[in-house]
Amino acid sequence: MRAGHVCSVLASLVLLWLGIASAQEASSWKSLSGKAPAIVAKGGFSGLFPDSSEDAYRFVQYASLPDTILYCDVRLTKDELGICLPDIKMDNCTNIAYIYAQGQKSYLVNGVPTSGWFSVDYNITELGQVTLVRSISSRTPSLIQIPIQYLLLKTCSPNSNLLEFGLMFRTKLVFRFLDESTLEPSMNKTYGSVLKNLTFVKTFASGILVPKSYIWPTSSDNYLQPYTSVVDDAHKAGLEIYAADFANDFMLSYNHSYDPLAEYLSFIDNGVFSVDGVLSDFPVTPSEAIGCFANLNKSNTDHGKPLIISHNGASGDYPGCTDLSYQKAVDDGADVIDCPVQLTKDGVLVCMSSVNLMDDTTVARSQFASQTAVIKDIQSVPGVFTFNLTWDDIVKNLRPKISTPFTTYRLDRNPRYRNAGNFMRLSDFLDFTKDKDLSGIVISIEHAAFVAEELGFDMVETVIKALGDAGYNNQTAQKVMIQSTNSSVLEKFKQQTKYDLVYMINEEVRDAAPSSLTDIKKFASAVSVDTGSVFPESHHFTMYKTNLVQTLQNAGLSVYVYTLMNEFVSQAYDFFSDATVQINWYVTAAGVDGLITEFPATARRYKLNNCMNMGNSTPVFMDPARAGDLMQTIMTKTAQPPALAPMPLLTDSDVAEPPLPPARSNSSTSPTHSGATRMHAHTTHILVLVILACDASHVRRSNWTPHQSSTNQIFFTTCSRLGSECI
Ligand SMILES: *[C@@H]1O[C@H](CO)[C@@H](O)[C@H](O)[C@H]1NC(C)=O
Ligand SMILES: *[C@@H]1O[C@H](CO)[C@@H](O)[C@H](O)[C@H]1NC(C)=O
Ligand SMILES: *[C@@H]1O[C@H](CO)[C@@H](O)[C@H](O)[C@H]1NC(C)=O
Ligand SMILES: *[C@@H]1O[C@H](CO)[C@@H](O)[C@H](O)[C@H]1NC(C)=O
Ligand SMILES: *[C@@H]1O[C@H](CO)[C@@H](O)[C@H](O)[C@H]1NC(C)=O
Ligand SMILES: *[C@@H]1O[C@H](CO)[C@@H](O)[C@H](O)[C@H]1NC(C)=O
Ligand SMILES: *[C@@H]1O[C@H](CO)[C@@H](O)[C@H](O)[C@H]1NC(C)=O
Ligand SMILES: *[C@@H]1O[C@H](CO)[C@@H](O)[C@H](O)[C@H]1NC(C)=O
Ligand SMILES: *[C@@H]1O[C@H](CO)[C@@H](O)[C@H](O)[C@H]1NC(C)=O
Ligand SMILES: *[C@@H]1O[C@H](CO)[C@@H](O)[C@H](O)[C@H]1NC(C)=O
Repeated sequence: MRAGHVCSVLASLVLLWLGIASAQEASSWKSLSGKAPAIVAKGGFSGLFPDSSEDAYRFVQYASLPDTILYCDVRLTKDELGICLPDIKMDNCTNIAYIYAQGQKSYLVNGVPTSGWFSVDYNITELGQVTLVRSISSRTPSLIQIPIQYLLLKTCSPNSNLLEFGLMFRTKLVFRFLDESTLEPSMNKTYGSVLKNLTFVKTFASGILVPKSYIWPTSSDNYLQPYTSVVDDAHKAGLEIYAADFANDFMLSYNHSYDPLAEYLSFIDNGVFSVDGVLSDFPVTPSEAIGCFANLNKSNTDHGKPLIISHNGASGDYPGCTDLSYQKAVDDGADVIDCPVQLTKDGVLVCMSSVNLMDDTTVARSQFASQTAVIKDIQSVPGVFTFNLTWDDIVKNLRPKISTPFTTYRLDRNPRYRNAGNFMRLSDFLDFTKDKDLSGIVISIEHAAFVAEELGFDMVETVIKALGDAGYNNQTAQKVMIQSTNSSVLEKFKQQTKYDLVYMINEEVRDAAPSSLTDIKKFASAVSVDTGSVFPESHHFTMYKTNLVQTLQNAGLSVYVYTLMNEFVSQAYDFFSDATVQINWYVTAAGVDGLITEFPATARRYKLNNCMNMGNSTPVFMDPARAGDLMQTIMTKTAQPPALAPMPLLTDSDVAEPPLPPARSNSSTSPTHSGATRMHAHTTHILVLVILACDASHVRRSNWTPHQSSTNQIFFTTCSRLGSECI
């Protein structure tokens, strides 16, 4: 039997290396050949489309380096045709169990009795009824269903056998390692012991494919351990080494801060070694790593656009508004760091992301937990508020608590540092920022009216005084930005200071009416807008791009977008679970002037990348698609696009507020001078040209489906480790 022959020859090898592209020049890469690492798209762009579907394979060319290799796990059908399927058990990756409900069989797979649905039991006609589904889906289960495709059949005629197919091209044999404790059936040794003699592996293969944990192991609590010598060992044995198991929508080691690009870079650009290739579900991200983000000049710390503005410091890595998160934000290259001020019972201004201590401290476990109450002017749910505790109460009894916006997905942040760091008063914050390389600071003020009326405190005066005391009125190195969602606060600052005033729109709006612009311009030079006001989303797909950014910029206002986070669940599918793609959309497609982020390191690295301002030669994976395209592509195959609730227009009545009430009596603290002497000529650059250029370039990409897949491919195929298939 022809198929059996192929399998016995190839055993558990991964093979078939077609037309290797070697466009990259040998360079500083620390790979075996000195060439850039290869990208192998596992089952195509399987992070988005069902693994091994034609759509997954075709999509690769729209979001990956041109010489990306396509990976196919070949399985044989009853009529001895090869098809690509990610799992030997078809019930794991298709709906076959529903189509052929009686079709379950048992086979010895690598000596292990396994029951399920197997392709060898069905001919190609029968499999035509079966649909591939996304087997990995952390968010919406089985969102996308696509019929099984026969990519190989289209490429090679059914009469040519696999080996001939391989020999038509330059062929490389790559030996695939599974888990170290698993038994490799043809050698009857564990993969771990095979790994000990790579000289032996070199006698029959030119490369190895290993789980990424072989190279960067993680501890049981998911922190990275020092890298192993595997890459070095392989290279010394003359073997190429490929790392497997990369996906963006999985839990990464905490050391990578949910930033998949950072993970790839640790395999290819760590100063010590580079693997020779990566096997990925999301080829867009290794493409960025190899094409634009390796070997960056990290000493460049210019504070140009887009401005990187922290949100509670580097609150993705450490508890927000602590010394640790602020230090990290500075180290990570934020241009501006922020202090959201809250007031304590004894009149101390503290940096705290929320006025409710339940959100970002351990108050729930303290003696103050009993003070939980509802304050309707602040929020409708019970809380323990900063103004009910003194500064002493807080520092002596509470610990900071790291923000965990995605606990329902079990995507916790840096658990080893869950309660680390120290609280900061505004004065501590200003002491800290004064001598740092920052272009500015943001102070956010909310609930000023409540504080004045109920607590008798004038937050505006107090902040002005604190800034004056810290010398911020006598310097020009850092600009002071005051942000509020309440125009009355900004109006009052406008009367008394020359600070840059930032109006935060705290609802999603599709555009701003001219009357609202006139109002905003009276007191603000910049506006912070929600991500959803730029690219509205439905069911995690972007639907379109609003005009809001352009409207505001045309009115002479800078636009900052909030809040960017690395966790893939915070992002639309259009961004491929990659925070860098998201940033790129907001910067190049929307043209925002600043990014408000909990992960400044990701934004800083974006600013350093080598593929900015490339115009028409911008690589395809750095060229944002048009908002709404992905949703339309996918939904037209299955269902009607989801409807989007109409978004409101920002009007002057949203912006206008009554003036801040005076602080109730008790204003013994009234500061004397409000002499902000610094002037800021605030210029706003309008990015119309950039936006137009991007829109024009999208035209060629908007209808991606009908294209042929590129010819420059390599198919790895495993002979599926199915003993029974090889008989
Ligand atoms: C396939 O399904 C089995 C159970 O049916 C499960 O144990 C296994 O982990 C699945 N494999 C994959 C790759 O999803
Ligand atoms: C596939 O199997 C079905 C049912 O056993 C049979 O009717 C059909 O002729 C087969 N098709 C091919 C192409 O072998
Ligand atoms: C595999 O090796 C073990 C001992 O290492 C031996 O007991 C077993 O019989 C071997 N199995 C086969 C199929 O050769
Ligand atoms: C490793 O493999 C080579 C080549 O097969 C063999 O000569 C050598 O003895 C092996 N070394 C060990 C330690 O088993
Ligand atoms: C990963 O993070 C932990 C905790 O911060 C640290 O101890 C460890 O050294 C880091 N691992 C690497 C490889 O940098
Ligand atoms: C890196 O950037 C800095 C600051 O822009 C510049 O002075 C330096 O020459 C650059 N280094 C290299 C190697 O390009
Ligand atoms: C918290 O402070 C507010 C404002 O002073 C006050 O009305 C409320 O009673 C206080 N709550 C507790 C539990 O002390
Ligand atoms: C700021 O400058 C003014 C006069 O120029 C001076 O009186 C004041 O002491 C300075 N304040 C600080 C904090 O340096
Ligand atoms: C804004 O401040 C004014 C007082 O200046 C207050 O009356 C109003 O309720 C505040 N608006 C919001 C939305 O908190
Ligand atoms: C009000 O004034 C009293 C007496 O001066 C002072 O002890 C108290 O801290 C003040 N309260 C506020 C909120 O300023």
